[in-house]
Amino acid sequence: APPKQTKTKFGYLPDKDRIFTNLYGKHDWRLKGAMQRGDWYKTKEILLKGQDWIISEMKLSGLRGRGGAGFPAGMKWSFMLAAKDGRPKYLVVNADEGEPGTCKDREIMRHDPHKLVEGCLIAGRAMGAKAAYIYIRGEFYNEASNVQVAIAEAYQAGFLGKNACGSGYDFDVFIHRGAGAYICGEETALIESLEGKQGKPRLKPPFPADVGVYGCPTTVTNVETVAVSPTILRRGPLWFASFGRTNNAGTKLFAISGHVNKPCTVEEEMSIPLKEIIELHAGGVIGGWDNILAVIPGGSSTPLLPKKSCEEAIMDYDGLRVVQSSLGTAAIIVMSKKADVVKAIARLSLFYKHESCGQCTPCREGVTWLSKIMTRLVGGCARLEEIDMLLELTKQIEGHTICALGDAAAWPIQGLMRHFRPEVEERIKKYNKQKKSARPCQSN
Ligand code: NAI
Ligand code: SF4
Repeated sequence: APPKQTKTKFGYLPDKDRIFTNLYGKHDWRLKGAMQRGDWYKTKEILLKGQDWIISEMKLSGLRGRGGAGFPAGMKWSFMLAAKDGRPKYLVVNADEGEPGTCKDREIMRHDPHKLVEGCLIAGRAMGAKAAYIYIRGEFYNEASNVQVAIAEAYQAGFLGKNACGSGYDFDVFIHRGAGAYICGEETALIESLEGKQGKPRLKPPFPADVGVYGCPTTVTNVETVAVSPTILRRGPLWFASFGRTNNAGTKLFAISGHVNKPCTVEEEMSIPLKEIIELHAGGVIGGWDNILAVIPGGSSTPLLPKKSCEEAIMDYDGLRVVQSSLGTAAIIVMSKKADVVKAIARLSLFYKHESCGQCTPCREGVTWLSKIMTRLVGGCARLEEIDMLLELTKQIEGHTICALGDAAAWPIQGLMRHFRPEVEERIKKYNKQKKSARPCQSN
């Protein structure tokens, strides 16, 4: 049943305040439909207000990067202004959405691609970029196709290209397709891939804002961050900042999957409680709230939460830090008591092992070991002392690698042991009582 409440401070976002008005694909996503829903309205006026105005409005809105790291968007958009040596500047949109559980940028590209294309023009103008490259995940065939159609429509309407929207500003947008590597979602690996090389992360600094695509200043930013910017500038930064809490402003796309009655992607107010968003939009946990075992709140890299923390968790950057996790990509993965939580985390370890680019030892070797030990845990061949060994290994990986993939592999295991260590120990003891030949794992 629809909720009785109308808008409250943290949740129940009314339709009139939704940025993504075609999230479920019920309307025409092409230019005519998009314009009827408000896209490309007074874009020229926004462009003519200039870089400083756009950046200061974005800063005022409090928008933080929606790709996972939550870096303040206005500040990031201002970095390239410092480069005055004549090198061309580029905007790169990270549409390589690969974080397990995450499917929000996909919906934007499928159903609201003009928001992204218009956002590219505005963000590009703010940064002084001459072009945008949208790097789209290889598997997103239909999404890339829709974005390509939207770009072509925008060129035809005079919104892109020379004298974009009649603003006197020239701006091009290109699509680049990925080829299925998760690591190419890491911004410097993405840049390498865009340049035609293997997608292997670079050391930072220098940050892309100094040395990015083809050695030129580049700002890499997420699809959702770019796509919300035209609406923020039209409706005003204070409108956006009125949602959520200080430092955690705005509306946000949340993807809810796993053991819920109605998996969905939904736009909601930041700072909505985790329990509320699951019950309001995803039809609740299968079997009822008491059947919940754990939730991964922000995509596979974020540590899981046991039931008690799920009841306290607030879905924003600060709120999830309180329960020792993070917002990440806001992809909520719900596990009921039916789930084998050890097996689920072991599966993630295997994923990170497979996706490691292999160029730094703690990740290449360490994540392989993590995966091996997790497999032993699942199959009943591990010994009790291996739990501490596993945790020590995560500490040796965390913070000692070129990119965040090492951390991403370490954190889910730390979360598992923080909240489910007694269950893991119980499992080991139970298997240790059985004959080796009777255990599922025969590897040791
Ligand atoms: P980060 O914190 O290193 O960087 C965030 C952004 O701020 C980057 O664009 C970086 O260039 C910029 N930045 C930071 N400090 C800067 C400085 N001093 N000067 C100039 N620019 C600076 O985080 P990172 O590695 O970009 O992202 C990690 C997050 O990505 C994870 O938390 C995870 O949640 C998320 N992720 C998302 C995926 C997806 O599918 N959307 C896939 C995998 C991870
Ligand atoms: Fe490659 Fe892993 Fe090192 Fe990242 S942490 S650069 S994925 S080896």
